[in-house]
Amino acid sequence: MLFIGDIVGAPGREALHWLLPGLRKELGLDVVIANGENAADGRGITPENAAEIFSAGVDVITCGDHLWDQKEVIELLDGEQRFVRPINYPADTPGQGSVVLELDGLPPIGIINAQGRVFMRGELDNPFHAVADEVKRLGPRAPVIFLDFHAEATSEKIAMARMLDGQVSAVVGTHTHVQTADEIIFPGGTAFLCDAGFTGPHDSVIGRDWEPVVQKFLTSQPHRFPVAKNRVLLQGVQIEIDGATGKALSIARVSEALPAFKEG
Ligand SMILES: [Fe+2]
Ligand SMILES: [Fe+2]
Repeated sequence: MLFIGDIVGAPGREALHWLLPGLRKELGLDVVIANGENAADGRGITPENAAEIFSAGVDVITCGDHLWDQKEVIELLDGEQRFVRPINYPADTPGQGSVVLELDGLPPIGIINAQGRVFMRGELDNPFHAVADEVKRLGPRAPVIFLDFHAEATSEKIAMARMLDGQVSAVVGTHTHVQTADEIIFPGGTAFLCDAGFTGPHDSVIGRDWEPVVQKFLTSQPHRFPVAKNRVLLQGVQIEIDGATGKALSIARVSEALPAFKEG
């Protein structure tokens, strides 16, 4: 499987369109999951953005703290089975926190999205309890389970993966937009990476033009943060999983440049 880090704006969607079909073949991918929380000009996701992402070859889209930034997201929450939002919202929140993906020739794959609470706004439920309960619920149906843990703190993400070691196939973090180099398979067979990075313009501060971000830090005054344009990368992580046992066999970071931007 390939998991793709936060898709940021039109450059991120372009990167998927041009790079993903080739990667699907080259890497022999069976399943592609992508975080889409920044797909709409850096903030949130619309049904049009989701359609574009699915048509590039993504099977399931996960989300994060930018979930509500586009009001049209309600259509995805209400009607799109391939769209998963953080599971630790209150019980009556629209949408779903997990899905079981059934593809021809593959075991059922449970996909869960959760949001961290350390250094993050919002009062969501405890993600450790929410995820543990969901893993128990999905376990009998899905031998392979993947968690996108959308969180700021490395410690919270590592702790989540440690708690789940041996119960899920992989835990991959998102939200910081910076790809980490700590990929590992824990003793119980759970693959882990603290952060998958982001898919979009890397000549930036985590996807936005860097100049206004620097000004914001210098002046403490509000600024607009347009999505940047250059050095577009598709970032994520490839994980090989034994479909019978659900244990991870290998994990490797992916960072592919959109050819037009390869020269600089
Ligand atoms: Fe993000
Ligand atoms: Fe986020």
